[in-house]
Amino acid sequence: MTTRIVTVCNQKGGVGKTTTVAEVGATVAATGKRVLVIDGDEQGSLRRWVDQVGEDNTPFDIAILSDPAELGSVPEIAADYDLVFIDTPGSRYEQNLVAAYLEVSDFILVSSEVDGLSLEPADRYINELVVPTKKPYSVLLTKVDSRSPEQETAAREFFAEANQPVFKSAIHLFRAFPYAYQDGVFVSAGTSRRANARKAASEYHAAALELLSSIATL
Ligand SMILES: Nc1ncnc2c1ncn2[C@@H]1O[C@H](COP(=O)(O)OP(=O)(O)OP(=O)(O)O)[C@@H](O)[C@H]1O
Ligand SMILES: [Mg+2]
Repeated sequence: MTTRIVTVCNQKGGVGKTTTVAEVGATVAATGKRVLVIDGDEQGSLRRWVDQVGEDNTPFDIAILSDPAELGSVPEIAADYDLVFIDTPGSRYEQNLVAAYLEVSDFILVSSEVDGLSLEPADRYINELVVPTKKPYSVLLTKVDSRSPEQETAAREFFAEANQPVFKSAIHLFRAFPYAYQDGVFVSAGTSRRANARKAASEYHAAALELLSSIATL
């Protein structure tokens, strides 16, 4: 398999970028593919999460990157893997760094919440940072409240109107995710004992499958 680099981004903080990289990365790695996850955010959340899970229980390799000067080494490091996921910072001050990550990517996944206030900034972000790269991309709807399904419907209508591709699968709000770090698990691995953890896992499994089929044709 040719190496594919997938970057998860959104200028907005707290929209599930790190969670998506870890859970999709763990899901894909569990299928036997060689996966490298790059923590490209100086906050280092992903690194700490992996430390908490333990490298032995982490099915992917992890590398740290926070200096665009090191980006030149990515294709070389990536060559040993089937898939590389890059987690990016959610601060508008670091968008030059994110733009550099996008340049080395084969596919871009924009995680977005579905509340009304999140939609326009996500659309603007995509048009300003993602579209100019001419790389294939899609939005992944995250932290969707199942008690307000109309929000997901409205978000899908908004992005359809804006001509932005959106994954069919979406990630709902599950308590298992904010506890994953302290529990030292990836929810997608199926070991979380939290309520609805199985359902939470299945949603990232579906998103990972959709991602794999999107990049299979590249
Ligand atoms: N589907 C979900 N359901 C419930 N909580 C979630 C979900 N996804 C993420 N979270 C929680 O929301 C918080 C922010 O998620 P995460 O760190 O993945 O976002 P981020 O976009 O990487 O944030 P930052 O911009 O700060 O890097 C975390 O506490 C995480 O556990
Ligand atoms: Mg993050």
